[in-house]
Amino acid sequence: MKVIRNVADLGAAMDPAPGRAPSVGLVPTMGSLHAGHLSLMAAARAECDVVVVSLFVNPAQFGRGEDLEQYPRDEVGDIATAESAGVDLLFAPAADQVYPEGFDTWVDPGKIGAYLEGSARPGHFRGVATICTKLFLLVKPRRAYFGRKDAQQVAVVKQLVRDLELPVEIVACPTVRDPDGLAMSSRNAYLSPDDRQVALALPRALEAGLAAHRSGTDAVRAARDVLDAQPGLRVDYVAEADLDGPTLAAAVVVGSTRLIDNVVLDAEA
Ligand code: PAF
Repeated sequence: MKVIRNVADLGAAMDPAPGRAPSVGLVPTMGSLHAGHLSLMAAARAECDVVVVSLFVNPAQFGRGEDLEQYPRDEVGDIATAESAGVDLLFAPAADQVYPEGFDTWVDPGKIGAYLEGSARPGHFRGVATICTKLFLLVKPRRAYFGRKDAQQVAVVKQLVRDLELPVEIVACPTVRDPDGLAMSSRNAYLSPDDRQVALALPRALEAGLAAHRSGTDAVRAARDVLDAQPGLRVDYVAEADLDGPTLAAAVVVGSTRLIDNVVLDAEA
């Protein structure tokens, strides 16, 4: 596996040899790789000739007072994980490679980036849309893989690709959960064992919401009831929204950790 740290070397590496245009699969990440990321890499490996993983904790998607400094980082572990997942190229730039002196052009996804996560984290999706646009232009992937756990992010990136006619297919992969039901997230590392027990109300609430939806009752009310009954947790939002399909989404805060999760509101029992 090649590790590349600057934009010029990435450009050279992604320039196909004359007459050869291998299909490239991109898995954008902020590192601290877990089984959720591995499922994206496995999907890319199965469908593409060349798999590229980006590892960049993107300062532009963190607001003031958020966890940019504390965000878990383990580059040595991530390189080993990506290598063992059969990744061909890891792009791990420093911030000044991505945002050099004078950088001041942003991609703003509009309404879809302004509610739910967007209203709780103003500017977040502008940062996500900008870094994804840069990565798509630099890596030129045929497909890019995102976890459905960040359903609003998937919807934002799909809109971005559609609106700017970027030649990349966005593949949304199912949420990967730990055996206790908690959706995999790098931020789970912040949870103490007690916090984690409290946090399990989130997937339980979404399951209750899905069951209510399937039986024709109010999904938001059912999820909210489970969360309100859980001491030690603050609800940020519970909402039904079209996030790349009908979705029940929620955000909660446990201790100082903010967690998001969602379920697709399908009709199947
Ligand atoms: O989902 C993430 O880890 C990030 O938002 C992404 C897509 C890598 C952009 O920085």
